[in-house]
Amino acid sequence: MNTSINDLILKLDLKSHPEGGFFKETYRSIGEINESNLNAQYKGKRNYSTCIYFLLTSGGFSAFHRIKQDEIWHFYNGSPINLHIISELGVYSNHHIGINFEKGEVPQFVVPGGSWFAAEVINDNTYSLVGCTVSPGFSFEDFELKSRKDLTTIFPDKEQIISRLTHY
Ligand code: GUN
Repeated sequence: MNTSINDLILKLDLKSHPEGGFFKETYRSIGEINESNLNAQYKGKRNYSTCIYFLLTSGGFSAFHRIKQDEIWHFYNGSPINLHIISELGVYSNHHIGINFEKGEVPQFVVPGGSWFAAEVINDNTYSLVGCTVSPGFSFEDFELKSRKDLTTIFPDKEQIISRLTHY
């Protein structure tokens, strides 16, 4: 990998994420929400909110996955990102996260909870650095990463994009 990207990964202390890319949790609220105050989808308590740095490199991608809560993406640096969403009802959309407003990029985007989403760097030989904030706070218990075969069974008409943006 390009040395300056490697330096950034080291500087920000990022680690590999199971969906692809690199991340570091930068905030986890001390405050917690009891299970009885969360909707029935959640098992156990959650922090009020969490935030991560998330870095993707060109050629790599964040594979289709979903979480229960809405996830707010914030653009920081590098190439814009192409964020692909398949809603729970199977409606596909894609959104460019970046700061070239003339091109229709947006610096912030909310991925609705429960939708399947994947992301890739738009430009070659570079990286994208974003932040991802969720509330209730992130737990891997709320994180679902499905195989190409299982996701295609749910959304057969999205086979092409699912095949391209799943790791296995
Ligand atoms: N913490 C660890 N993984 C994730 C993730 O995929 N999203 C968010 N928001 N936080 C995380």
